[in-house]
Amino acid sequence: MVVIPVALSGRSYDVIIERGVLADLAVVAAGYLASYTKSGRKVPFVADTNTHSIFHEAVEASLAAANVAIDWFVVEPGEGAKSWRVLEQLTDWLLALGVTRSDHVFALGGGIVGDLTGFACAVTKRGCGFVQLPTTLLAQVDSSVGGKTAINTGAGKNLIGAFHQPSAVLIDPIVLDSLPDREMRAGYAEVLKYGLLGDAAFFDWLSGNGSAVLAREPEALEHAIATSIAAKARIVAEDERETTGVRALLNLGHTFGHALEAETGFSDRLLHGEAVGTGMALAARYSAHRGEMPEEDAARAVTAIGDSGLTARLSDLDLSCDGAKLVQHMLHDKKMETGTLPFLLLKGIGKAYLARDVDLGDVATFLDAELAGS
Ligand code: GLY
Repeated sequence: MVVIPVALSGRSYDVIIERGVLADLAVVAAGYLASYTKSGRKVPFVADTNTHSIFHEAVEASLAAANVAIDWFVVEPGEGAKSWRVLEQLTDWLLALGVTRSDHVFALGGGIVGDLTGFACAVTKRGCGFVQLPTTLLAQVDSSVGGKTAINTGAGKNLIGAFHQPSAVLIDPIVLDSLPDREMRAGYAEVLKYGLLGDAAFFDWLSGNGSAVLAREPEALEHAIATSIAAKARIVAEDERETTGVRALLNLGHTFGHALEAETGFSDRLLHGEAVGTGMALAARYSAHRGEMPEEDAARAVTAIGDSGLTARLSDLDLSCDGAKLVQHMLHDKKMETGTLPFLLLKGIGKAYLARDVDLGDVATFLDAELAGS
C-alpha cells in the first residue's frame, strides 16, 4: 500500500494506492462507513452506467462483509452528467436519503462522476463528506485529488463549482485493466504533464517506461500513479485555491488544449486528456519558437507525446479552422484573467512557468503554421 498525504490546514487527507482496494473497501474505508454501520442506513454511491455495471458486484460484496448495503445513483456516461439538472436530482436524492454533514458519499467513476459528486457534496447541507474511488487513469492521477469540483453550463465547462476536498482518495490500479486503451492514453497525457512541468527525472523515467505504464504493468503503473499524485499533492498543499500561480502549473497544455476541445465541440472526437497531450506539444513548440526552450527539449517533449500514441502534431488533427479561431476559444477559457491570457510555457523539460506577456497575434501566427504542418 502506498499512502500519499495531501497536507492542507484542517482538511488534510490521504490518497491510498493499493491493488484490490475496491474489494477491500469495508476495511480500508471503515472510518467513512461508520455512520452507516451504526444507523443501518444504506451508503450513497454515485457511479455512471459503465462503472456501475463493471464494479457494483465487487463493491457490494465488499461492503456486505461489514453488513452495509449501498444505494446507487447512476448517471449516463459523459459530460451531460455535469449539469444543473443532474446536480438537482443528485442533491434531492441525497437529501431524501437524509445525508448529514458527517456522512460520506462515495464517487465511483472517472472525473465526471468525481466532479459532480464532489460539487453535490460541497453544497448539500453546506458541505458533507465524500470519498473518491477513481476508475480512470486521468481521475487517479489528477481530477480526484485536490478538491476541484464543478458542473458545466451554457457559458462553458467547470464554470460553476467549488473547492471541496474529499476525505480520502482510494485508488485501485486493477480497475484500469478494464479501461479502454484510448482512455488510458488520455490519462497518460496528465502523467507526462508532471514530468514536463517539474520533474525532469520522472520525464526521463517515462521515456523508458511509458509503454509499460500504458500496458498496465503493475510496478511501472503504480510508480507512475504514485509519482504523479505526490507531485499534485505538493502543488495543492502549496496553493490549494490556485491563487499564487503554483497550482496554475497543473494547467500545462490546457490553454492550447482547451481551444482544441472547444473547436471539436467538447466531443468524443478529442478527449480532454488527448487535447492536453497535443496542447503540451504546442506549449513546448511555442516555448521553443519564443526562444525560451531549447529546440532539443521541445523535440523530446513532442516525441514522448507522440510515442505514447497521443497526437503530437496539430496538423494531424485535421481541423478546419485558423489560428485566430483557436485563440478566440482560449479567450473564453475560465483561466483568463482580466486583460491578459496567462500561458503555461516551458524553459526546458521539468521547467514550466506562467508567462503573462504572450502576444496573442503571435500565438495565432504560430498556430497557423502548426495547422499547416510547417
Ligand atoms: N486539474 C488541475 C487542478 O487540479 O488544478
